[in-house]
Formats: sequence, C-alpha cells, structure tokens
Amino acid sequence: MKTVKIADGIFRLGINIEPGNLFEGIWSIPDGTSINSYIVRGDKTAVLDLTQDQEDFIGSMTAQMDDLKVSPENIDYIIVNHMEPDHSGWLREFRKKNPSMEIFCTKKAVALVEHFCGITDKVHPIENGETLDLGQGKVLQFFETPNIHWPETMMTYEQSEKILFACDAFGSYGKVEDAVFDDQLSDDEHDFFEKEALRYYANIVASFSVFVERGLKKLEGLDIRMIAPSHGIIWRENPSVIVERYSRYASYLKGPACPEITVIWGSMYGNTQQLVTEVIKGIRSEKIPVHQYRVPEDDIGFILADAWKSAGIVLGMPTYEYQMFPPMAHVIDDFKRKKVQNKKVFRFGSFGWSGGAEKELETSTEKLKWEFLESVEWQGAPGEKEKKKAFERGQELARIVKEFAGKSY
Ligand code: FEO
Repeated sequence: MKTVKIADGIFRLGINIEPGNLFEGIWSIPDGTSINSYIVRGDKTAVLDLTQDQEDFIGSMTAQMDDLKVSPENIDYIIVNHMEPDHSGWLREFRKKNPSMEIFCTKKAVALVEHFCGITDKVHPIENGETLDLGQGKVLQFFETPNIHWPETMMTYEQSEKILFACDAFGSYGKVEDAVFDDQLSDDEHDFFEKEALRYYANIVASFSVFVERGLKKLEGLDIRMIAPSHGIIWRENPSVIVERYSRYASYLKGPACPEITVIWGSMYGNTQQLVTEVIKGIRSEKIPVHQYRVPEDDIGFILADAWKSAGIVLGMPTYEYQMFPPMAHVIDDFKRKKVQNKKVFRFGSFGWSGGAEKELETSTEKLKWEFLESVEWQGAPGEKEKKKAFERGQELARIVKEFAGKSY
C-alpha cells in the first residue's frame, strides 16, 4: 500500500486486514478493514499509532516509512492514542530500535504500555489539552476521550492543519485501497462505508455510547478541517458527515432509533418458522422496513447493527428445555453486553410439553428497558388463530414504531 500525503508534512500509512479474518477475534469482516497510522513531520517527527504485531503488517508499514525516509531511528515521538493491540502490537519492538523515542499517552495508558509492551521509561502521560510543538508550525494537542472505546483512549489534534486523529472513533470496517478520502468515493462507495461504519459502531463502540456523546461535546469547540481515524476513510471534504453519523448512532442507546424493525428468529422443526412470514406481512402492511435474520445461521455482528438502529425488534423462538432457544439466548446476551436498549419488542414461539422461553426472556432483559407487546405462544404446531395473531401483532408493532420513531430519519 502507498503512503498518502494528507497535508503538508502529514502522511497516512495504511494496511488492510483481509476478508476472512475476525476483527477483535470475534467480528466478521467480509470486506476487511484498514488500520491507519499517521506521520507528522516538523523539525521533530511523530508517528501516531502503529499497527498490530503481524509480520506482513509490519513489513508493509516499514516499506511505507521507507518511502518517507522515516524509520524508528529518526522518529522522536510515538503518540499512543489507544493501546488496543491493533494499534500498539508493534510498539514493543518499534521502541527497541530507538529507546530515546518518547511515548505520549494518557495517564491510564501508562500501565497498559508497561503491561502490553514492557516499556516504563520515556513514557509521558499527557494532561488534557496539552500540546507538543514539533517545529515548522506543527503542533499536536491531546484530548482525553475515555471509553471510546477503552478507558485510556485519547485523540490528537494537529493545530496548523486542523486535523483530528480520532483513533477508533469515526472509524468503520471495510478495506481502504487507493481512494482514502471521502471526496474520492462514489455514491455506492459512500453507501458501503456508511453500512460498515454502523456495523463497526454496533460491534465495537455501541456500549460506550454515553461516552461518545461526552467525547463529541468535548470536541465541540474545535475547528476540525479533517478527521483521520484509525480504521476506514479520511474525512477531508465533509468531516461533519461522520460526526453527525456517530452522534446519531450514540443517540440510539436512549431510543427511539429508526422506524425500522429487525426480525430475528430460530426454529427447531418449523413450527415457530411458520409465523415469521405472517409477522413480516403485518409489518410490511404498515410500510415499515424489515431486516430479517435466522439464528444460529446468521452472523451476530450484522444482527447487532440492524437491531441497534431499529426502533422495533421481533424475536421468534421456541422454548428449548424450559428456557430460551439457545442461539437466541446468545443473541440476547450480546444485546445486553452491547446495550441494545429502549426498543419495542414482540416475541412469538412454540413449545412442546411446557413453556419457559417467555419467562427467561422477561427476566434476562429487565435492564434493557424494552417495552413488550403481548406475545403469541402455542403448544406444538400453530393454527390459523396464531397466524392471524402474528399478522396483527406485526402490524401493531409497526404502528407503535412509526409513532415512536417516525421522525427519527
Ligand atoms: Fe482499533 Fe480499539 O482498536
């Protein structure tokens, strides 16, 4: 990959995690994702974030640094915005090549630098708002933005060019190739990165939405001309687009999110499945968009993204051994971890000899502040009565969602 000049004396270095890998060892990235680092050059040179400890990534980053005639030996500062190893995995070996390099990070990151990398000397804990003058007009300013998405996170702002290096914030999944700036993308590519930003947000950032809102507030007074995140494209023409998107995604924590409904269902022998079509017909009769997933077949990372932005959720699952259908229990567990809160919810499903899924669902989602419609449950195979009810509940949920979230687009 080529080094890209993003402003005078400021460069992006990037690698791509290829499709087929899992991000954080969990999340599917069928279209990959990028990891971006930045070099800022004045009289002194700083590198902002590195890459993970993987031979081909380090080889690529080294080659890109060579293009700029930069190497660990002539870098003065490493700015550690975030210690997650996708950005710091190379730090231990990188610093060994030049032990006089000074590391700038938050106070909370100091312990992580020690425990992940064994580095304790020349680690400078920043004060919020502190500056570092690199010479030739290049001045870096540091802002603590805790819990976006680790507690030690900060962002760095380059004052002369007004560039915000936001690390994981304002990032997205999706490989970045030759077009690295927002103004180089087609409409389709913008649509792609919008979807990938939402999925990235729902998977990685969502549970910290309160802190995203606090971080956005902290940055309000800053004149930002460009946003350069650690994953995804650089926002040069319209940085406000990604700021507005993140602000909107964060607001979904409290609801109402979008007037859409995500239907998640699982079925053992087809008895619960028979009502899926009826529910969806009911929803569509009110012209509300529906996203549909089957568990355990479909991917939780995608389910989370659509559930996060939907005001309504439908859960179709049978009782299994007196409890929830296990793949759905897994989805509910992830919803709790990621705080998929304040939704309007309808559940349906069959049972064999006894119910139990309903009770477990109610108790396990108490903290999610979900508002439930009356469920539809039946023993064995569903009859026409259940199918009719399913259609009506789908319709009712769609009407409630329209009322609740109608103005949210
Ligand atoms: Fe991209 Fe939280 O690391």
